Amino acid sequence: MQLTYLGHSCVLLSGTRKVLIDPFIEGGSVAGTNPDIVAVTHGHNDHMGETVSLARKTVAISEIARFLKSRGVPSEGMNIGGTLTVDGVTFTMTPALHSGSIDEGGIPGFGGTAAGFVIGMDNVRVYHAGDTALFSDMKLIGDLYHPDVALLPIGGRYTMGGAEAMMAANYIGAKLVIPIHYNTWDRIAADPHAFKKAVERTSDLKVQVLNPGESVGIGT
Ligand code: NI
Ligand code: MN
Repeated sequence: MQLTYLGHSCVLLSGTRKVLIDPFIEGGSVAGTNPDIVAVTHGHNDHMGETVSLARKTVAISEIARFLKSRGVPSEGMNIGGTLTVDGVTFTMTPALHSGSIDEGGIPGFGGTAAGFVIGMDNVRVYHAGDTALFSDMKLIGDLYHPDVALLPIGGRYTMGGAEAMMAANYIGAKLVIPIHYNTWDRIAADPHAFKKAVERTSDLKVQVLNPGESVGIGT
């Protein structure tokens, strides 16, 4: 499987299928990625992004799935703790400690709770934490699903910062950690290389800093 970081919280997994997570990038479009499946962690604009205009098969929490259906997007609703298989790709929805809303014309409406995903494809498991604070049940995500890769927010203010994400990485135990949700705007400024140094100095985990557009091969 190839994992491409498109920027902010947006990641493309390319294998048997193309799975696009949180299709938003600042000042650009991800329409050209042509995904088979879109997964949305929560309803905030910087995660829903182009979900409606992409109009692909979309996996999201029930409330968002219902909203998307009303906009003509073929959606599969699920909820936290559940696992769903779509075209051979498994999606396990994990908790996230964050708020959730759908913005309609500037007015926030209820969008269910925020979530993360463990996505399994081609014998590789990727944990995308979504927007979240640190929570100790991340250890359960590690114990239960043994993800190969953990995508963790480090930008602070709206999510974990580097110090919390360091502990999250250790709770989850994925051999490869990729920081996300930082430096999109000044208010989530963070140094991913300082995060990498701190994690690698204190654990056996590896951190790979990807610039937007860069990819890494995972598994075979
Ligand atoms: Ni958010
Ligand atoms: Mn966000």
